[in-house]
Amino acid sequence: MKDQYKDLICQTFDFPQEGFHTRDNWLYFNEYSLKDLIPKHGTPLRLTYLPKIDSQISQAKSWFESAMQKHQYDARYYYCYCTKSSHFNFVIDRVLQNGAHIETSSAFDIEILKRLYQSKKITEDLYIVCNGFKTEDYVENIVSLINAGFSGAMPVLDNMSEIEQYRQRIKRSAAIGIRIAAEEEPSFEFYTSRLGIRYKDVLPFYREKISNQSKLRLKMLHFFINTGIKDTAYYWSELNKFLNAFVALKKECPDLDAINIGGGLPIRHSLGADYDYAYMIEQIMGQVKQACSAARIPEPDIFTEFGNFTVGESGALIFKVLTEKLQNDSERWYMIDGSLMTTLVDVFAIGQRFILLPLNKWDSPYHRVNIGGLSCDALDYYNSEVHLNQVYLPRLNGDDPLYIGFFHVGAYQDALSGFGGIKHCLIPAPRHVVLDRDSDGQESDRVFSSRQTAASMMDILGYK
Ligand SMILES: Cc1ncc(COP(=O)(O)O)c(C=O)c1O
Repeated sequence: MKDQYKDLICQTFDFPQEGFHTRDNWLYFNEYSLKDLIPKHGTPLRLTYLPKIDSQISQAKSWFESAMQKHQYDARYYYCYCTKSSHFNFVIDRVLQNGAHIETSSAFDIEILKRLYQSKKITEDLYIVCNGFKTEDYVENIVSLINAGFSGAMPVLDNMSEIEQYRQRIKRSAAIGIRIAAEEEPSFEFYTSRLGIRYKDVLPFYREKISNQSKLRLKMLHFFINTGIKDTAYYWSELNKFLNAFVALKKECPDLDAINIGGGLPIRHSLGADYDYAYMIEQIMGQVKQACSAARIPEPDIFTEFGNFTVGESGALIFKVLTEKLQNDSERWYMIDGSLMTTLVDVFAIGQRFILLPLNKWDSPYHRVNIGGLSCDALDYYNSEVHLNQVYLPRLNGDDPLYIGFFHVGAYQDALSGFGGIKHCLIPAPRHVVLDRDSDGQESDRVFSSRQTAASMMDILGYK
């Protein structure tokens, strides 16, 4: 009878698949033996597999390159990394090694860039697309970059009053962008994004406030669709509106030579994920090309700011199942040695699902479980997957503990949970280990941060 956990997975999904396979009933993550990492580092354990960042960036670049070739697109593609998805230095170092440019969101982001410059990891011509609402310290930092000669630093105006700050303080010629306020998806609470400048204001604003500027030139039109790049009528209609705005502006603004289509390229949140990246990118490039040809204007350079896509699939979070509790005839709990609420905040906040797999016991029979986190909060649980409103895991048999992993958790979760701070119920943050592989295939694992200590939390709380 086929009742082992591996039968369930092989019958439900195409398995093994990229990034996941098993050997001797243990799971491998990107060819890494998780069986070997656990005795060495213990659990709970947060992992970042750096080579995934390389492959994601080079994949995206090659999809854009092929799409450009296919459409005989005569301009360039720039891959930017949106730092807010993961600010860790080992992530940003890797992103830069792959020739990516940077998108920032706040004043402190610019401090990261200053440090990267001091350590000679970036040069002045790196594109630094400065998005977001500009507070006084953010403006100050952007202006100081530009005045120091960072020719690629480019504020993207979030509102019409922002330009005045740059007009008064920037001392050299500089490029700027305008963010268009996209219309939100029909199911959302608001009609128009609070970020950016309304479509109907863009052209009059350009005529009145930018066209006569001696130092500031409008280089980029930017839009970002909150719900991501999806093959839906909504996405295509928003892109179309955006391209119409670009064409109208380009006819009056010769300096405008770039569009930025934001982030939103998805990642796999299920082993059954089926997203045709090459098709989507080809379609987008086709739409841009068509709009420009019809209007007889040159094709713009294309910028993207992929955060989740760059770093999401590099991350994993491993827990040990401490015990099993049957709370009534049907509700079985696997209690883990960490908290979901404090490590995977999106699970609790927006009902995000991640790929969940056991690390061992793939030859054991399985049953339906709820996963319970260590905090005392009723919402610290996980009990459904993208493809199924239930969770199945191997039975706990014998003395060997069961380990489970949440995969593709590398984007946003550390920042949202506040790395190293106070955690709900004082459940400590896990050890964070960075995995790498050199050009000869030699693996390495380096501890970036140890499991959070009681002393560090006592210190923050003022107990000296
Ligand atoms: C302006 C902007 N660009 C890029 C991104 C990155 O999006 P993603 O991580 O989905 O690629 C975001 C995310 O919020 C954003 O607000």
